[in-house]
Amino acid sequence: MTAVGIDAVEIWTGNLKLDLPGTFAAEKGEDPEKYTKGLGLNASSFPDSYEDIVTMGANAAHRLMERKGLEPDDIGRIDVATESAFDNSKPVSTYVAGCLEQVYDGDFHHANKGERKFACIAGTQSLDDACNWIRAGRNRGRSALVIATDTALYARGDAGEATQGAGAVAMLISEDPSLVELSTEQGYGSADETDFLKPNQQFPSVDGKRSVQVYLARMREALEDFESVAGEVHEDDFVYAPFHTPFPGMVRKAALLAFRHVIRDTPTEDELAEEIGRQPRPEAFDSDEEYRDALREYMDALKDTDRYAEWYDATIDPTLTISRNVGNWYTGSVHVARASALKHALEAGRDLTGEKLLVGSYGSGAQAEIHAETIQDGWEAEIEALNVDEQLDNRYEMTWEDYEEIHDVHNHEMDVDVEEFTTPSEEFVFDGWGRMGERKYRYVE
Ligand code: HMG
Repeated sequence: MTAVGIDAVEIWTGNLKLDLPGTFAAEKGEDPEKYTKGLGLNASSFPDSYEDIVTMGANAAHRLMERKGLEPDDIGRIDVATESAFDNSKPVSTYVAGCLEQVYDGDFHHANKGERKFACIAGTQSLDDACNWIRAGRNRGRSALVIATDTALYARGDAGEATQGAGAVAMLISEDPSLVELSTEQGYGSADETDFLKPNQQFPSVDGKRSVQVYLARMREALEDFESVAGEVHEDDFVYAPFHTPFPGMVRKAALLAFRHVIRDTPTEDELAEEIGRQPRPEAFDSDEEYRDALREYMDALKDTDRYAEWYDATIDPTLTISRNVGNWYTGSVHVARASALKHALEAGRDLTGEKLLVGSYGSGAQAEIHAETIQDGWEAEIEALNVDEQLDNRYEMTWEDYEEIHDVHNHEMDVDVEEFTTPSEEFVFDGWGRMGERKYRYVE
């Protein structure tokens, strides 16, 4: 079977930055370490007043098309994944195509366009749809553009406010990809949950603590389901495991559970037994409560072993570097984690061609999906082309007052107009409203 996967990726961050330990914690009168150590976050990205999900998505896609020398005729499909859409009928992908048509001679009339919704997992679902479209032979030699774009804002004062973020990831899906090939094996963990939802409202209703438990439960199901088709996963099978990252502290919890799972009944569990004992098994306990207490004790001890720390530092920590500085990008988050890991490998001079990633996506509501990816021999050039560090450095750092203003600007219930904090250059910008309430965009040279 021909290899299908991600040929190229581009990341576009919102142009504003909120320092969490410095500005946010100070204003809330909280210990900065709650953010840096607890949640694992240093800063969030925010959209300036002229930015939204369309501009960020179109800018990421434009940069990708320019770098790859593509024309509209090369793209047969545009899928946008978002949970920040502002229209219940007209998909964001039509707006993105409209933007791109302003700067290319051709058009996207031939391209199938859509919008995917399932909280944060929709980005991976779109990727999957695009791969299946190619595998089914329907692409007529063309590639698909998948764009995951969100302004992940919470209501002011919500516990989730510290995890906000805004940005887009554009991915080109092709045959014989340069970056990663996706496995056809997938595992799912999916259930009707009410942990995080937006019932026709802009900002989410969140049961934060429960959402953490739901993430872990669904991810565990997905891993077991993946193993049922792909075989048992072992700790050294994958060079990195990029996971959906609402905040790095969440992935820290998931990683510990995953490690416990993959070492069970292996020589690693036996080796560690001398230090911390064997993993508790439910059948050895009289009550569920006793079993859970023993499990908690084992996990605390496991976390402190050198074996686990080494695995975590090598396989998980590198996936979190970008996230620490941008916050939650919802649909784009797991794709940022992949890029972060590969960037780390490039900077360390590692040769990864042929190595595998274990990718764990998640969306509240809730569903987790796990698949494997094989790194292709063009990965270094693709990752080298990212300018994400430059983008992050160029963000305007907001004061608390700036932050309050910009949150209001992006609040759909409010009609606030403020001067932009940054000067757009070579990017699409929001340009006001049309006669039917549609949003208008223009390209700024
Ligand atoms: P919170 O009440 O602000 O924070 O809510 P906390 O008190 O639970 O503290 C957070 C961590 O910091 C804890 O670590 C504290 O111990 C630690 P843990 O015990 O959990 O390991 N901490 C400190 N550490 C060092 N020094 C200190 C200190 N103080 C505290 N001084 C919560 C946290 C996650 C609930 C909140 O941020 C929230 O509601 N977030 C939004 C929901 C969310 O992100 N859920 C994640 C799973 S669901 C998901 O990923 C889906 C999502 O992306 C949406 C989608 O799919 O569309 C959200």
